[in-house]
Amino acid sequence: MGKDVIVACDFSSAQETYAFLDRFTDRKPFVKIGMELFYAEGPQIVREIKRRGHRIFLDLKLHDIPNTVKKAMAVLSRLDVDICNLHAGGTKRMMEAALEGLTRPDGTRPLLIAVTQLTSTDQESMERDLMIHAPMDQVVMHYAKTAQEAGLDGVVCSPLEAGQVHAICGQDFLTVTPGVRFADGDAGDQKRIMTPAQAKAIGSDYIVVGRPITAAADPVAAYARCVREFLG
Ligand code: C5P
Repeated sequence: MGKDVIVACDFSSAQETYAFLDRFTDRKPFVKIGMELFYAEGPQIVREIKRRGHRIFLDLKLHDIPNTVKKAMAVLSRLDVDICNLHAGGTKRMMEAALEGLTRPDGTRPLLIAVTQLTSTDQESMERDLMIHAPMDQVVMHYAKTAQEAGLDGVVCSPLEAGQVHAICGQDFLTVTPGVRFADGDAGDQKRIMTPAQAKAIGSDYIVVGRPITAAADPVAAYARCVREFLG
């Protein structure tokens, strides 16, 4: 799969999501479906968005014992999503089990990527709450390496970490990066941000963009701008 812009569909209902997606009559964006929408609407929303011709990153961040994750991944494979994910903190064995579960009858499988440390976790809370005392960038790189050893395809990370992840894990190991804002846009609650062009320059494979597109006065134009800046 090549590089692309993934639109985070952080809506609370199917109705809102379809009204948003209906605007895209030309190029159908790659979309991210997260916990809120999936838990509200169930697997049917995934099937419907797939039927409408979108590629899907199902962002459910699994984290449980290996056997449970393996079985859950087997169910998700049948939904025909393109990317799914889990927490690298579940250990290498859990990631390996996830891959074992991730199979389709035709031998293909969705890409599987790992969340390293959430970007909402800072050094202080990691040390205090998780008793992890190494520097954050070392922790993130260690988790990325472990995910790669387990056979995963990449990680979700800050665009600021994407270059280092590629340096350590190679260019083929995917970096999927949220925290993207237009140069003239509102940062909102995102702290460490990059523009689509900067994310491109640093080597992000997929950028995940939510509010700069979903909350734009003209979402289709904002998406087109994002694609132009990132892929152009
Ligand atoms: O609206 P915005 O562009 O900030 O949306 C970014 C999306 O990426 C949201 O769905 C958010 O939950 C997700 N995300 C993130 N930071 C992470 C992991 C996921 O912003 N570290």
